[in-house]
Amino acid sequence: MISLVGMPGSGKSTIGRQLARELGWRFVDTDIEIEHRLGESIRAHFERMGEGSFRAIESSTLAELAQSAGASPLVMATGGGAVLREANRAVLRAAGPVVYLRSSPEDLARRLRHDQQRPLLQGGDPLTRLRNLYRERDPLYRDVASYTLDTGRSSVPTLVRLLLSQL
Ligand code: S3P
Repeated sequence: MISLVGMPGSGKSTIGRQLARELGWRFVDTDIEIEHRLGESIRAHFERMGEGSFRAIESSTLAELAQSAGASPLVMATGGGAVLREANRAVLRAAGPVVYLRSSPEDLARRLRHDQQRPLLQGGDPLTRLRNLYRERDPLYRDVASYTLDTGRSSVPTLVRLLLSQL
């Protein structure tokens, strides 16, 4: 299994889907998988049950998907907060290469300027929120990653080609 980690808006789903297509592997976006399991959007679940409930479902989903990758290889795009729990980082590391898609808070704010779906970015100034999240999480992404890719303003095909040459 190849896992993609990084901040919201870093391109995990777009790049992961394309990478899986090139490799002929399965692609799973854990947020979409979780929404199927919940039968509601992540945003609605956060509002109704709180972040803790979401994090518990996120951990069990990650662990199950990582286990399923033994039978058929998988590219997995994780949610931006999947690295917060040490147990999740251990699951990802044990399952194969982990790629950190690194983007600056300024680039992320630009990409997410119309986003209404991400609960942790609602309310207040998005750039300040992204800067705070980045400060907290960048060390965790680096801790779990076997490879860091600076997304900058490179196109998706360029980033996918780079990944294919490195992995
Ligand atoms: C979260 C990021 C989201 C989603 C949830 C929590 C986070 O995923 O898992 O809203 O804590 O940063 P994306 O990184 O795909 O936005």
